[in-house]
Amino acid sequence: MSITTGDFRQRVTVQTLAEKKHNHDPIVCLTAYDYSAARLADEAGVDLVLVGDSLAQVVLGYDSTLPVTMEEMLHHTRATRRGINRAFLVADMPFGSYHTGERQALENAVRFVKEAGAEAVKIEGGVTRAALVRRIIEAEIPVVGHIGLTPQSVNKMGGYKVQGKTTAAMDQLLRDAAAMDEAGVSALVLEGIPRELAARITAEVSTPTIGIGAGPECDGQILVFHDLVGLTFNAPPKFVRRYAAAGEAITAAIHAYGEDVRERSFPSDAESYHVPRETAAKAVAAVAGKK
Ligand code: KIV
Repeated sequence: MSITTGDFRQRVTVQTLAEKKHNHDPIVCLTAYDYSAARLADEAGVDLVLVGDSLAQVVLGYDSTLPVTMEEMLHHTRATRRGINRAFLVADMPFGSYHTGERQALENAVRFVKEAGAEAVKIEGGVTRAALVRRIIEAEIPVVGHIGLTPQSVNKMGGYKVQGKTTAAMDQLLRDAAAMDEAGVSALVLEGIPRELAARITAEVSTPTIGIGAGPECDGQILVFHDLVGLTFNAPPKFVRRYAAAGEAITAAIHAYGEDVRERSFPSDAESYHVPRETAAKAVAAVAGKK
């Protein structure tokens, strides 16, 4: 797997992301949390795979991203790493893993690279996180920023609300974007902000912007894997486009399997293993003798 190869020729790197912005070549990003989803995304040509802390909700069943731990994120980043050959792999730093001090943040960022094969870490926040982002980059770890609707701030925001709707909020987000850009992030996720503001940030910063609920002018787009394939249990937010109905397909498959088991049509003879004819005859005779 690519974690052990030094061959970067076919791989998406921080330079590829910068070139794509420069060439107005849209960057395709997707979350993934395990080997199979990562492999499907990678083979379909996704440029950047994010092991998002949305893992907490879509895979682990928590009701927010706040409870997910470093150990859970590392475990899923390792599995995702094994499915990727080409895409740039980013791991989300979970809530609490960079909030109590620079040393803790650096140690956790290093763990994602060293123990799980991430190529960058993602951190939520703007101006207030700029110094920390600089320190992590100084430690040779690329950072992806994330501003706007930052789910780890749900309690402070009072819910999952579109951000940047007033002039003051817009000005703050412009300052946040500039601070992340100056700190040297390799990309900047813009989540849940008006299209017009995302377009302005995209034009003003040198780093590629990756939108989610931020309109089409961003340099790239990202969706949560489960939203894209329709594997969720609630109505998706307005910005989600579902490209498949995986939940319905899986439910139908499980129902059909249940029926086949109940009516003993699964497994069939062709789906069973056999012993040679004489051994089979003995087995049948032994069963008959016990009856
Ligand atoms: O955790 C996540 O999936 C994310 C994306 C929505 C950007 O942060």
